[in-house]
Amino acid sequence: MKSYKIAILAGDGIGPEIMEEAVKVLKLVEERNDVQFELMPAAFGANAYFECGDAFPEETKAICDQADAILKGPIGLSHEESKKIPIDKQPERGALLPMRRRYNTYANFRPVSLPKGLAHFSPLKPEVIGEGIDLIMVRELVGGLYFGEKEVGVNDKGLRYVKETLEYDEEQIRRILVEAFKLAMRRKKVLHNIHKSNVLKSSVLWNEIAEEVAKDYPEVEVKHILVDAAATLLCLNPGQFDVMVMENMFGDILSDQGGGILGSLGLMPSACQGDEKSYYEPSHGSAPDIAGKNIANPYSMIGSVAMMLENSFGMEAEAKNVWDAMQGVFTDGYSTADLSKPGSGVRMINTTEFGEKVLEKLRKAPKVA
Ligand code: IPM
Ligand code: MN
Repeated sequence: MKSYKIAILAGDGIGPEIMEEAVKVLKLVEERNDVQFELMPAAFGANAYFECGDAFPEETKAICDQADAILKGPIGLSHEESKKIPIDKQPERGALLPMRRRYNTYANFRPVSLPKGLAHFSPLKPEVIGEGIDLIMVRELVGGLYFGEKEVGVNDKGLRYVKETLEYDEEQIRRILVEAFKLAMRRKKVLHNIHKSNVLKSSVLWNEIAEEVAKDYPEVEVKHILVDAAATLLCLNPGQFDVMVMENMFGDILSDQGGGILGSLGLMPSACQGDEKSYYEPSHGSAPDIAGKNIANPYSMIGSVAMMLENSFGMEAEAKNVWDAMQGVFTDGYSTADLSKPGSGVRMINTTEFGEKVLEKLRKAPKVA
């Protein structure tokens, strides 16, 4: 029997509630398959900081180091609460970015997907959605402005100033582009390369390398598109996109827009892959305003489990069962509050009810050999 160690980092805000549902799914998957999961919970985020002064404690690092994969909930506090933690120790700078760096998880995959039958979730008109939205954003995750050198001070005019560096070397650019081309080969063989080469030299180099890598994938049609134009086209005609690749900061912004066109960030799971280790997390934040109310949408957290099953454990068929189970709950007419607009006819359920319904569907799914 295959056995995997999974670090479970529930995180802050709605993290623990949505993680609870995700863990139930993992346990059912374990029951249904010839596989064993050793779940290793660990503190991560603001909760860890308040407990021990470190948002990414040594003990958690040791657990993650041992794990075959990491399942991570959202982290972070409200704008006001954040001020209680020194800037460099806040969970984003003190835990999340160090984790991305530690495991060099340079390839972030963010599917943006909504079948035609669920078009009513989206703020876009049905005629804009057409046959449904089904694209995947590939975001570089360990370079660019997020990780460049930073300088804060007072300049010789006596003014406070800040300097942040956007740096990439060609190896960093090439490896993410290669991932995107490989993905395009497995999908529709169309790749949108997102850039800002009319202003940024980093995009000029990025595009040069995109042209070089393209030579190894002659079957893939590459379309170069400016990031601002891409933002517009995501709203006007999302159907033209299949795989989109971009640097870190562009990917942060456009992937939230991806959640926007679906109707909720709650529909945005993600996989963060390095050569040795991968971790899985919702693309959204910890939503402190709704934390503890049992109303958050656990889709992105359970979807992150599905991505883990597929990418880290090679369990494609069972991953598909998990996706189908969640879609099934939606097509039965249920959803959490984020997606049940008044008058939409959608029956509102809470976090645990959503989880329960997913489990019910998954229990009925065909067992995979
Ligand atoms: C995301 C998040 C993070 C990011 C934050 C929490 C640092 O917004 O994963 O998109 O900006 O990368
Ligand atoms: Mn983000």
